Amino acid sequence: MNVAAIFDSMDYGPAPEGAKPAEAWLDRHGRRFDLFIGGTWQAPETGRYFASDNPATGLKLGEIAEAGGADVDAAVAAAERAQPAWVGLGGHGRARHLYAIARQVQKHARLLAVLETLDNGKPIRETRDIDIPLVARHFYHHAGWAELLDSEFPGHGPIGVAGQIIPWNFPLLMLAWKIAPALACGNTVVLKPAEETSLTALLFAELCAEAGLPAGVVNIVTGDATTGELIVRHPGIGKIAFTGSTEVGRLIRSATAGSGKRLSLELGGKSPFIVFEDADLDGAVEGLVDAIWFNQGQVCCAGSRLLLQESIVKHFHGKLRARMEHLRVGDPLDKCTDIGAIISPRQQARIAALVRGGVAAGAALWQPAAAMPERGCFYPPTLLTGVEPSMTVAQEEIFGPVLVSMSFRTPGEAVSLANNTRYGLAASVWSENVNLALDMAPQLQAGVVWINCTNQFDAASGFGGYRESGFGREGGREGLEEYLAPIAPKARRATKPVVATASPPAAGPGIDRTAKLYIGGQQARPDSGYSRPVLGPDGRIIAEVGDGNRKDIRSAVEAARRAASWPASSAHLRAQILYYCAENLAVRAAEFADRLRLMTGAAKAAARAEVEASIRRLFNAAAWADKFDGAVHNPPLRGVVLAMHEPLGVIGIACPDDVPLLGFVSLWAPAVAMGNRVVMVPSQRHPLAATDLYQVLDTSDLPAGVVNIVTGERDPLALVLAEHHDVDAVWYAGTAAFGGKIEAASADDLKRTWLVPATLDWSAAGQSEGRAILTRATQVKNIWIPYGD
Ligand code: NAI
Repeated sequence: MNVAAIFDSMDYGPAPEGAKPAEAWLDRHGRRFDLFIGGTWQAPETGRYFASDNPATGLKLGEIAEAGGADVDAAVAAAERAQPAWVGLGGHGRARHLYAIARQVQKHARLLAVLETLDNGKPIRETRDIDIPLVARHFYHHAGWAELLDSEFPGHGPIGVAGQIIPWNFPLLMLAWKIAPALACGNTVVLKPAEETSLTALLFAELCAEAGLPAGVVNIVTGDATTGELIVRHPGIGKIAFTGSTEVGRLIRSATAGSGKRLSLELGGKSPFIVFEDADLDGAVEGLVDAIWFNQGQVCCAGSRLLLQESIVKHFHGKLRARMEHLRVGDPLDKCTDIGAIISPRQQARIAALVRGGVAAGAALWQPAAAMPERGCFYPPTLLTGVEPSMTVAQEEIFGPVLVSMSFRTPGEAVSLANNTRYGLAASVWSENVNLALDMAPQLQAGVVWINCTNQFDAASGFGGYRESGFGREGGREGLEEYLAPIAPKARRATKPVVATASPPAAGPGIDRTAKLYIGGQQARPDSGYSRPVLGPDGRIIAEVGDGNRKDIRSAVEAARRAASWPASSAHLRAQILYYCAENLAVRAAEFADRLRLMTGAAKAAARAEVEASIRRLFNAAAWADKFDGAVHNPPLRGVVLAMHEPLGVIGIACPDDVPLLGFVSLWAPAVAMGNRVVMVPSQRHPLAATDLYQVLDTSDLPAGVVNIVTGERDPLALVLAEHHDVDAVWYAGTAAFGGKIEAASADDLKRTWLVPATLDWSAAGQSEGRAILTRATQVKNIWIPYGD
């Protein structure tokens, strides 16, 4: 065989993901799962269990408890009992728990992905790369909201117990969309997974318990529609959140009407995928693969109605068919699989019946020739052409890998066709003409419009529908409002944050060390070769630190410049790293408190409080990393202006002497959260609070050069920073007199300066965290986007 023949005959080899750890987890539970109520596993009062199968093989994975009335009562009672203490933890306390859950999800990501694929039949590539990372993202993001709740939603509090009912198409992701905001706001939950896919919710419950989530905050009751109805009607539940079919959504609306229960419904869709003749057609074909064949088309916002401009219909269908020939249908655990199994024989039969009906009504059916698996529950990717807008296949949600194609002539016709549906969940518009695409967006009746992309989701952006696709939003600020209620003035009670208690101080802090500088992620000796003594409150030398000079500052600025990937990194990543710093500082809280006492003579309680406040500040900066959004302005033209916050670049920061740890953290963390890199000159008198942080930074995945620390005499070092042309801004917390010199020195290159007032109260959130500092760390760029053709 020659090389050309090998290329011609080459096929994918199998690349199966191992299922052993997931199978072992099932075995550990004896393949029988009880209800998770009040932090313990409880057998159902019904005594009944139902089977959960792997749709790709038809084999039974395990037995799941069917919760009855007494079980739902018990779960609601557990949630009610847990709720006051949960809200009493305060936003910061809850943020720590949500963060711990996010970490648990990441640590067990592979097990969760494999289990989800076994239970649901979706390809491992999707569970591994999309579902599970988004689950972690949701918990991280909402840890941040918990932290910011008091300042961002004053006068609001939780509703109480939330009843949450989710479908089988994104089992763990829908759980995260529901649980994370509910918990962030101080609610406790009773969640029912879909009867087809309960397993990852049960593993999640186990992970919550392992992460120390208080008992009763999350309760998982399994069962079918009957269990769902019990939740919906339960008087102890103040809010129902449902994702599923429009039919059941309607039933739930009727059942809750007049009950005073809050309700959000995320229902079905028949979303248009509109391609104009000037679109990047290859890009649009790839987009379509994501739109309708992602998760076998079992997606509420699937782009299931292809609307093509008339001039490109033939050409586009040709490209699409060629692409469909390459879609691989088969074993969901194989990493090369594009299309996995359909959730159940019932859904498979429903898809087949709808397609048959479409063909009988006159649509033309096309399916690729590729082989289908011999057993299991599969359906081939399907294209229906010659479809009329009034046909059932053009109006009903098929919820399978079936695309119907229609055509339009003008943008106006595309809008009418797109809006010719009872649904309104999402729409995708493809055109290289940004004016046209942006002109379409406001005319489409849909909760989400994607331009030249599709199926984009993020915890920071609300998701939800118009019309019969439901109401309420999940994600973003608006998603939180679904779980908050105004606190009646009488009942308003300040929630006391629970402060983690530090362990007793270690025997005696060491004094035999000379701390080096920290430049480009390395500990570096000072250029001068000299060190400076650090004195304790009684004038005794307690340690030495490097005596930095102009050259050290230059090296630090170079290192900061080199860390150019930091501003380009996602805000989510920056948040994660800051949380990680907080976690690592918390682990060593007692040691840091001892060090503060040794340096400043502070009382034990004050030192501990300063460390605790510093941890909170890290949480605060992490929380803001992906929330200090810009704005969309409406100028007097047809269009919008996007006002975006951008980092300044490299900031030189000279820190205050009082509260040496808190002052240091309060300044670097928000600067770094916004994507800046920093050169820090720590407290001149008490620098050890900063030099002790080297290990915390090293172990928290902070890229080298993002934070650089040069100890030494504050004012001369600050002046070097002010004069340095590669430094974009200087923050100076020193004397007013020297502040004037800093401003004068910065005039040369019109550097941004901030003279931190000596009166600033480092313990006052309004002055030393959040917007007060973030506005200093960013600048606004306005992007004008006119639209209309
Ligand atoms: P479904 O709406 O019946 O089930 C969703 C969830 O609601 C499950 O947990 C189920 O146990 C629960 N449920 C069912 N009846 C209930 C009731 N009366 N009260 C309270 N809870 C109840 O969806 P199903 O039967 O699994 O799928 C049927 C069709 O629904 C699909 O073909 C698809 O068109 C649509 N669907 C839409 C979803 C979406 O994400 N928007 C997700 C799943 C299904």
